[in-house]
Amino acid sequence: QKKSKIAVQMKIGIIGGSGLDDPDILTDRSEKSVDTPYGQPSDKLICGKIGDVDCVLLARHDRQHGQSPTFINYRANIFALHKEGCTLLIVTTACGSLREHIEPGDVVIIDQFIDRTYRRESSFYDGKEGHLKGVSHIAMGEPFCQPLREVLIKTVKSLKLTCHEKGTMVTIEGPRFSSRAESIMFRSWQGDVINMTTVPEVVLANELGLPYAAIAMATDYDSWREDPQDHVDCSKVMKTLQKNSENAEKILKKVIRELPSTDWHDVILEHKEKAKGAIFA
Ligand code: ADE
Repeated sequence: QKKSKIAVQMKIGIIGGSGLDDPDILTDRSEKSVDTPYGQPSDKLICGKIGDVDCVLLARHDRQHGQSPTFINYRANIFALHKEGCTLLIVTTACGSLREHIEPGDVVIIDQFIDRTYRRESSFYDGKEGHLKGVSHIAMGEPFCQPLREVLIKTVKSLKLTCHEKGTMVTIEGPRFSSRAESIMFRSWQGDVINMTTVPEVVLANELGLPYAAIAMATDYDSWREDPQDHVDCSKVMKTLQKNSENAEKILKKVIRELPSTDWHDVILEHKEKAKGAIFA
């Protein structure tokens, strides 16, 4: 029997960022409240389908945007999607641009991150009762799933949206935006885009061996430009968010329908083995 013939029951976990979490993208919807050893996820899970593909949608900030990025229970979110049987994770995130050529409305399929967070639980393995046991020294050279990124890039391009095929996301603690000096420093560090949620989300997905890719959508030019009129504020973010959410929906609907034509067995297995190999028990 060929390895590729072992069926993997595909289920796609979708984490929707601010304004990018409309449950209407799923058909045959049902809501599910769940609990995990790490507490409760941000919101109810919405189980349903895109085409023939089973999906589970979770609003990262809860559906009323009630949660500050610092206080999102990232561990419960990732654990809940894993427990629900998700095999691949695709997330959306609004972000600021640190580059002139990445314009508000553009899509970036990020491939790296720089972690500037400092008040978040970023490992499942914390030695606490009822939590995963051991210490996970998870490799982070390639945090995002390359095959999943490639399918996303192809899809975004096929929709004629402006797609940047790679990019380094700087994740700040927030909830405040960056000062001009910080923003200029992040540019000098080769950051391309900036948000408040990619870390620890992608790290936790890696700890559980879940292939993870992100659709980052620029809403603003952060704070690095000379003219203070150009600096990010909430109204600038909101202005682009509506358009971005329509594009996010188009991308998700198309990419998820196309996923079953790829054999994900080896990709999923590789991620699981990487996660297992990281544990110092
Ligand atoms: N989310 C959207 N725009 C942002 C910015 N400029 N900084 C951090 N998070 C963001």
